[in-house]
Amino acid sequence: MEKDYITSILKEKRIFKPSKSFSKNASIKSMGQYKKIYKESIKNPNKFWAEKASELEWFKKWKTVLRKKGNFFKYFEHGKLNVAFNCLDRHIKAGKGNKIALIWEPEKGATKRYTYSQLHKEVSRFSNVLKYRGLRKGDRVCIYMPMIPELAISMLACARIGLIHSIVFGGFSSDSLRDRIKDCKAKMVITSDGSFRNNKIIPLKNTVDDAVKKCPSVKQIIVVKRCKNKIKMKKKRDIWWHKEITKKEIKDKCEAESMDSEDPLFILHTSGTTGKPKGILHTQAGYLLYVYQTFKWVFDIQDKDIYWCTADIGWITGHSYIIYGPLANAATTLMYEGAPMYPKPNRFWEIIQKHKVTIFYTAPTAIRALMKQGDKWPKSCNLKSLRLLGTVGEPINPEAWIWYHKIIGNKKCPIVDTWWQTETGGILITPLPGATPLKPGSATFPFPGIVADIVKENGKKAKPNEGGFLVIKNPWPGMLRTVWGDDERYKKTYFGKYKRIYLAGDSARYDKDGYFWIMGRTDDVMKISGHRIGTAEVESHLVSHKAVAEAAVVPVPDKIKGWAIYAFVTLKKGITGTDELRKKIIKHVADHMGHIAKPEKIQFADDLPKTRSGKIMRRILKAIAEGEEDVGNITTLADPSVVVNLKKDRIK
Ligand code: WTA
Repeated sequence: MEKDYITSILKEKRIFKPSKSFSKNASIKSMGQYKKIYKESIKNPNKFWAEKASELEWFKKWKTVLRKKGNFFKYFEHGKLNVAFNCLDRHIKAGKGNKIALIWEPEKGATKRYTYSQLHKEVSRFSNVLKYRGLRKGDRVCIYMPMIPELAISMLACARIGLIHSIVFGGFSSDSLRDRIKDCKAKMVITSDGSFRNNKIIPLKNTVDDAVKKCPSVKQIIVVKRCKNKIKMKKKRDIWWHKEITKKEIKDKCEAESMDSEDPLFILHTSGTTGKPKGILHTQAGYLLYVYQTFKWVFDIQDKDIYWCTADIGWITGHSYIIYGPLANAATTLMYEGAPMYPKPNRFWEIIQKHKVTIFYTAPTAIRALMKQGDKWPKSCNLKSLRLLGTVGEPINPEAWIWYHKIIGNKKCPIVDTWWQTETGGILITPLPGATPLKPGSATFPFPGIVADIVKENGKKAKPNEGGFLVIKNPWPGMLRTVWGDDERYKKTYFGKYKRIYLAGDSARYDKDGYFWIMGRTDDVMKISGHRIGTAEVESHLVSHKAVAEAAVVPVPDKIKGWAIYAFVTLKKGITGTDELRKKIIKHVADHMGHIAKPEKIQFADDLPKTRSGKIMRRILKAIAEGEEDVGNITTLADPSVVVNLKKDRIK
């Protein structure tokens, strides 16, 4: 998609202004208002953030808004608060106990609803279970669960008593889960007997059993009964959620722990340039404030809204904009368990109709896949309740944008194309829906408090449309604090290229009107269906197959997924590359890493293009995989002739 995408955005001239009626009721009503707030927020960011922070409830007020030490940043030091308290108790105290906090839509079966009071009670009880099981402030808990209410309850319970959660997306398999548990030395895993997807059962607990074989830190596993499938429960180690939560020792009340602003809140692993995933660390107050404020303005949340984000909570989007952001704003947030097209391609639209969803936030991949199913599916449902749409995770091509706008939004809903990352905690570049004139494919402008820029290799500002590296020039409260257990990696990855400036790892350009256009990653990170996957991690799983000697993967454009994985594999001596072997290798990657990391295509090769020092030249492989005639400069290769064979055997 990349080339098509770039050609289409370069031609893009259309502008969509927010309607008068939308702007009138929005919290930010015009570009003039945005510019004024933006200017002030940049002039005095500490004042800006302090004002916003005072909307949260603190057990003790902070002394300093920001303290910098080299490339490490601390917000609201000496302040004390509790994230779960701010997401639940604060609203109950304000009389909103009976408002619906969470709507849960299962793949099959009856909807469940939790008011703020009910959710508060469930969270408090489960916090007591965690305490009863001996967990204490600062302990790490790994959560590996499907999209069920117990997932939300587990996160908030951790936050309530100061445990650090580390959620692993349920689509990852046992090796990936093991690596993530080991990295943070989790004492407990919370999981379920299985999860439903497309009416099939995915046996999560078996995967956990497998993963923890090599994780001595894990002493207990709490298991939610979701599928009633047969699983083994190991004595003393494995505990059923429903049995534990109903014990007489477990009370309804649980005091929220008073947390320091900079105490860790959660770790979320994400892919980087090396095979080892990075444990991105977010802390209490700054993160909460940032997701609170961005959710409020980007989604223009109002009391009656029904908000639905289709992400999985296993990714940052789910953390920030299904749970913490919406609940910090006392919003009603919907959580859907299943697959987008189950049982039919109108499932999303049916859910919108059924719950009268007003704000809908999804990924371009989902939009493209649903668009391909044809207009009859959305047209069979009443989508009139919608007033605002959003996208996240990858660039949206103007064609998909226009379809989303016309067919889903009935030409009246603004679309917020939100750019951000696991590391940024929340949205950094985005339209504000009542203010910003939209250009399809552009994430538009930085959020107040954010100084985004585009620089060239030499660090100088790029000219309009020139393109370069996307950087953020000042700290913001929601930013990562470090890579768990690896301060050096944090410094090197994000502040290594340019001094004191955060390097996002994306290329981008801004146009003559100052609109930001994100082009894609500049490192070895791929975005496959919007999921963030590291080439090195996939390669390590390819070479762990017994027939494989060496492997290199590159992303290739895909009409629906944005990108797909193309793998070059050299086999061990004497092994022939057959179709059957290809399937086995793909299955091996799926079993060990996860289905989301499966190569779409595997090309067997006698040799890979390497420099004289043995470095694989991915740039050349990418050009070959994409079918380019001219693969660029090959003079640095140890053996330039390998290119000819690779080109010949390319899989179309
Ligand atoms: C990409 C997801 C274009 C980008 C929240 C970024 C986007 C990476 C957009 C982070 C967008 C995210 N337009 N590209 N609106 N949003 N990206 O950590 O490459 O899973 O660096 O966080 O997704 O992926 P992550």
